[in-house]
Amino acid sequence: MLSEVLLVSAPGKVILHGEHAVVHGKVALAVALNLRTFLRLQPHSNGRVGLNLPNIGVRRAWDVASLQLLDTSFLGHGDSAALTAKHVEKLKEVAGFPKDCVDPEHLAVLAFLYLYLSICQSQRWTEENLELINKWAFQGERVIHGNPSGVDNAVSTWGGALRYQQGKISSLKRPPVLKILLINTKVPRSTKVLVANVRSRLLKFPEIVAPLLTSIDAISLECERVLGEMAAAPTPEHYLTLEELIDMNQHHLNALGVGHASLDQLCQVTTAHGLHSKLTGAGGGGCGITLLRPDVERPAVEATKRALSGCGFDCWETSVGAPGVSVHTAASLDASVQQGLDSL
Ligand code: PMV
Repeated sequence: MLSEVLLVSAPGKVILHGEHAVVHGKVALAVALNLRTFLRLQPHSNGRVGLNLPNIGVRRAWDVASLQLLDTSFLGHGDSAALTAKHVEKLKEVAGFPKDCVDPEHLAVLAFLYLYLSICQSQRWTEENLELINKWAFQGERVIHGNPSGVDNAVSTWGGALRYQQGKISSLKRPPVLKILLINTKVPRSTKVLVANVRSRLLKFPEIVAPLLTSIDAISLECERVLGEMAAAPTPEHYLTLEELIDMNQHHLNALGVGHASLDQLCQVTTAHGLHSKLTGAGGGGCGITLLRPDVERPAVEATKRALSGCGFDCWETSVGAPGVSVHTAASLDASVQQGLDSL
């Protein structure tokens, strides 16, 4: 039992290159964003455990006693590698959710319940251990995405910039600070469905799709090489190369079938402002990133942001390479974060 409030945060992430290809054993480059999710864990003496996720409008509470009465033997004994589709079905039953629920709100609650029940049962939440956090975060991802590659939880745990391939992670040394726009088209999509669609396309057209995945792999490797060179001395040519890689990958992702009209619009708007963009993550809507070269002047950035907002997109200006999961003291938090937490 916690004796005091615990504040932790973890960075959001974007995949620079390699989404979808990473599911098929290729390299992905992922970076932690300077946009963080904050969690306040607060002890209560009312015998209830509450979950409040203001960003997606989820507010739920359970009696601790009734959770303790649940038959959770199906979860095993704190083995963070054992989640199966059957567990998820059973959890839906326990939570009283419809069998076919796939919306983010239900899935977020399920991921929380799974982690709460598993971790409390196994009583291993006693030490800060990045390996352990990463393993549990991966299981949370599996509740939501089915069969994730593991790149998302890894980059949010370790932060910085990571090269990820088949579970093998290496950090890029001294990655340059890249400024980007992160743009949410607000078009909902299911990562699970999009990953399955790419798999079907690969099975249907192996001769066509396999070379696309190989080419995306080569783009990730070339991007890694360029980022390495930029650590020493970034030049305008480096940024132009990064832009070319972004364009080529965006076309490949379209050929894999994970594009969307909203993402085409995003790319067109930023192209009109001399900037280059690609989808990031699963595609089919969701988010895109736009590289902000250092030579782009403030009025041009502002004009691009206005044009994107005009399309109904949410747009954040941020940078990549942020620290991984972190614990905070209340005093060290930004006033805006503190205010956000206090208003819950
Ligand atoms: O949509 P996101 O941000 O969860 O990213 C999905 C990335 C994929 O490569 C499509 C899937 C995966 O598990 O790596």
